[in-house]
Amino acid sequence: MSVSTRGLTGRIPLAMVGIRPARLFDIPEVMRIERASFREQYPRGIFLTFLENNPDTFLVAEYNGRIIGYVMGYLRPDLEGHIMSIAVDPEYRGNGIGSALLREVIERLINRGARYIGLEVRVSNEKAIKLYERFGFRKVKRVIGYYSDGEDAYYMILPADEWRGN
Ligand SMILES: CC(C)(COP(=O)(O)OP(=O)(O)OC[C@H]1O[C@@H](n2cnc3c(N)ncnc32)[C@H](O)[C@@H]1OP(=O)(O)O)[C@@H](O)C(=O)NCCC(=O)NCCS
Repeated sequence: MSVSTRGLTGRIPLAMVGIRPARLFDIPEVMRIERASFREQYPRGIFLTFLENNPDTFLVAEYNGRIIGYVMGYLRPDLEGHIMSIAVDPEYRGNGIGSALLREVIERLINRGARYIGLEVRVSNEKAIKLYERFGFRKVKRVIGYYSDGEDAYYMILPADEWRGN
């Protein structure tokens, strides 16, 4: 008999997931999710500086008092709202949490004046690319060797006037 951990957490009601700005005490949990999600990690100082500079667009998803996802967005001087990172705890993926985080950060960046939203994604990351395309992002450029292991990135954008709040 096999015990599925997905079964324990698998389907959760999105109504019970809160999306809110990250606080200093969330950083260890954010870093736990980052470790479980990416091959390369940012040092702690990057999260702290990012939080200090972008307190409204560094968001976490909270469920039952536990941080289960985060997104880090910022507004560049050229008015690109850039998404630096997004990840959901592997145990909780496929529940709409990534979509909820993405929706909220896009809204906030556009409200702050972003003319478009931009991001880079590994060319092999089909799941994330599909999610972004569902939100209306388009691949506009392939960035050769963008990642430190040599993988290329797609640079994808979503113009603010095409954002329908989906
Ligand atoms: C990309 C990532 C953030 C998406 O997070 P997520 O919470 O799984 O995203 P969602 O649940 O909103 O959407 C994922 C899938 O679940 C489906 N889904 C959403 N809500 C659902 C629900 N209530 N019931 C069933 N399925 C649902 C979506 O349709 C989507 O399906 P698809 O992949 O076939 O299109 C997550 O996979 C992740 O953390 N990946 C590792 C880090 C990463 O690659 N980040 C992006 C770097 S650019």
